[in-house]
Amino acid sequence: MAHQPFASAPYVVGGTEPVPHPHIPAEEALCPVVSHDWVNAEYKHLVVDASPKALAVKPGQFFNLLCPSPDAGELWLRRPQSVYRIDRARGRIEFLYKCVGRGTNGLATLRHGDDLNMVGPLGVGFSVGPSWKHVVVLGRGVGLATLAPISQLAAESGIGVTAILSARSPEFVMAGDLFAQVGDVIGVLDTDGSSAVENVEAILLRLIANRKADAFFTCGSNRLFQLMKRLAKQHGIPGQIAMEQIMACGLGPCYVCVRTFEVNGKQELRRVCIEGPVFDLQEALGW
Ligand SMILES: Cc1cc2nc3c(=O)[nH]c(=O)nc-3n(C[C@H](O)[C@H](O)[C@H](O)COP(=O)(O)OP(=O)(O)OC[C@H]3O[C@@H](n4cnc5c(N)ncnc54)[C@H](O)[C@@H]3O)c2cc1C
Ligand code: FES
Repeated sequence: MAHQPFASAPYVVGGTEPVPHPHIPAEEALCPVVSHDWVNAEYKHLVVDASPKALAVKPGQFFNLLCPSPDAGELWLRRPQSVYRIDRARGRIEFLYKCVGRGTNGLATLRHGDDLNMVGPLGVGFSVGPSWKHVVVLGRGVGLATLAPISQLAAESGIGVTAILSARSPEFVMAGDLFAQVGDVIGVLDTDGSSAVENVEAILLRLIANRKADAFFTCGSNRLFQLMKRLAKQHGIPGQIAMEQIMACGLGPCYVCVRTFEVNGKQELRRVCIEGPVFDLQEALGW
C-alpha cells in the first residue's frame, strides 16, 4: 500500500521502509528519544534520532510534536517546538523547551527509547545575507531556544555573532555555550538589573558603532523586539524576528495562528506557521 505523507503511516527512524514521498519537504516521523534531561527547574533538553527529512530542518523552522498526555485525559492537538540544535553528523535533532502546560508536561514524560511523533520540518526559517560579516542576536525566555541554531547558521556561513541573552537569573541564560563557539555572549539579567531596556540599548548602540551589527535577530520578548525594531529602523539595519503564536494544524489551513503585520503602511494578516515563524523585523507588530 502506498505511504500517506501524514498521520496514517509515520516514517519510523531506523526502520527498513524507504522514505515516503521524497518531493514533500515535511513528514510525520517516529523518532526515538536518545536523551531527555532537565537543564534547570523549568526547561528540558530533548535529543531524538531524526529521519532524513527531519534532519533537513533549517534554523528557525519548527516541528509539531504529538505530546503524550500527562494524565488520564485526552491531549488534543500537537505542540510546536522550534529546533534547538541540528546534529547532522549523528543524525539527531535537539529541542529545548519550557514546561508550561499539559502538552509540554506530557512531553516531559518521554524516556530514553520512547518514540516521539514529529511532523516537520515546518515553516520559514532564518536567513543570512551574502555581505553580512557580524550579526546580533537578542532573545529571552523560550526565544533563546529558537535563536540558538543561528549559531550553527553563522558558523556554516562564516559570520560572527554577538548574542545578547536576557534572563531572570543566571540559570535561565541558555544557549550561551552554542553562541560562545562562534562569537561573543553577553548575558543580561533581571537579578542585577542589566536586562533593563536602557542597558540593552547601550550594548546595541556600541555594537552598531563598532560595525558589528550587519543584521538583527530577535525572539521571545516584546520590549526587546520593540527596541531592536526601533534601532534597526534608525540605523538601516535589516532584521528578522521569530514569532510565537498558539497553533493547531501547523500546516496552513486552519488559520488559528494568524497575526497582524504592517507591510508598506498597510495592515496584513499572516499565518505564523506557514508564512513564518520568521518574519521581517519591520513588518512585525508587537504583542
Ligand atoms: C513556532 C513555535 C516555536 C516554538 N518553539 C519553542 C521552543 O523552542 N521552546 C519552548 O519552550 N517553547 C516553544 N514554543 C512555545 C510552545 O509551543 C508552547 O509553550 C507549548 O505549545 C505550550 O503547550 P502546553 O500544552 O504545555 O501549554 P498550554 O496549556 O497550551 O499553555 C500554557 C501557556 O503557554 C501559552 N502557549 C500555548 N501555546 C503557545 C504557543 N504556541 N506560543 C506561545 N505560548 C503558548 C498559553 O497561552 C499558556 O499561557 C514555540 C511556539 C511556536 C509557535
Ligand atoms: S496553525 Fe493552522 S494555519 Fe497555522
